[in-house]
Amino acid sequence: MDLQKYIKTRGAQVDRALGRLLPKEGVRPPTIHKAMRYSMFAGGKRLRPILCLAAAEACEGSVASAMPLACSVECIHTYSLIHDDLPCMDDDDFRRGRPTSHKVFGEGVAVLAGDALLTVAFEMVAKSQVGRRYSHADLVRELALAAGSLNLIAGQVADLEGEGRNLGLADLRFIHQRKTAALIRTSLRLGGMSANAPSGKLRALSDFGLALGLAFQIIDDILDVTHTSEHLGKSAGKDVRAGKSTYPALLGLPGAQREADRWTRRALGALEVFGKRGMMLRAIAGHLLKRTN
Ligand code: IPE
Ligand code: IPE
Ligand code: MG
Ligand code: MG
Ligand code: MG
Repeated sequence: MDLQKYIKTRGAQVDRALGRLLPKEGVRPPTIHKAMRYSMFAGGKRLRPILCLAAAEACEGSVASAMPLACSVECIHTYSLIHDDLPCMDDDDFRRGRPTSHKVFGEGVAVLAGDALLTVAFEMVAKSQVGRRYSHADLVRELALAAGSLNLIAGQVADLEGEGRNLGLADLRFIHQRKTAALIRTSLRLGGMSANAPSGKLRALSDFGLALGLAFQIIDDILDVTHTSEHLGKSAGKDVRAGKSTYPALLGLPGAQREADRWTRRALGALEVFGKRGMMLRAIAGHLLKRTN
C-alpha cells in the first residue's frame, strides 16, 4: 500500500472504531456525548492512531489488536486539545476547522468533555485484548505515564509558565518533548506492545517516537507562523501573540526547519532494526516533515 492510501484507509478504520467505542450522541445526558463526538469527529489527522497501527504492523502484529489502543491515544490527544484551547489556557476559538468546544458548548461542558475523553481512553485500554507479553497493567501504566504530570501535563504546565519569558533551547525542548512527543512515543509503543514486540523493538519505537514527536512540534511552531488559520483549521499567529517560546522565535524559520530535519533524520535512524517492515513508519516520518497542516 502506498503512503496516501495507507493514511486514508487506516484513518477511516480509526474513525469507524471510534464511532463504535464512544457513547452515542443520544445517550443521556446528550450534551456531553455530543460534545465528545463534536471534537472527535471534526477532522483531525489521526496521526497518533495511525502511528500506533503502523508500529503494530512493523512488529508483525495486527491492526485489529492494536485498534482499541490506537483509539485510546486519539481520545487523550483530543481531550488535550479541548483543554489546550480553553480561555484559561491558549484561549483559541478555532480547532480542526470548527469553533472550539467551549465556544459551542460553554466552558463547563468543554472541560467535562475533555475529562470524559481522558477517562474513556483508559476504558478502551481495559477492553483491549492483550497478548502474551504485556498485561493490561503494562498498557495502562504506559498510557498514564505519557498523559500524566511527568509528560503531557508537565509540558503543558511549563508551556503556560513560559509565556512571556525567553526560554532557552533546553527548556523549550523539555516542553516539546513532554507536551507532544511523549504521547507520540507512547502511541508507537502501544502498537508495539499489542504485537508482543520484544524490549529491543520497543526501545527503537521509543527513540523513533521521541525524535519524531519533537520534529512534529517544531513543525507545528513553524506552521503557526507560515500558514493561515483557514489553512490550518486552527488559529495561526497565536504563538507570537501569546508570547510563547517556540523554535522559530528562538532560531528563526530556517534554523527551526533545520532542527526539524535533524530530528527527523535521527528518528529515521532508530528504525533500522525493523528492516523492510519499517517502511511505512519511515514514509510517515518523511510525510510529516513536509506537512502543511
Ligand atoms: C496538534 O496536533 C497539537 C500538537 C500537539 C501540535 P495535530 O496537528 O496532530 O492535530 P489534529 O489531531 O490533526 O487536529
Ligand atoms: C499543544 O501544543 C500540545 C497539547 C495539546 C498537549 P500547541 O498549543 O502548540 O497546539 P496547537 O497549536 O494549539 O494545536
Ligand atoms: Mg498550547
Ligand atoms: Mg494551543
Ligand atoms: Mg501550536
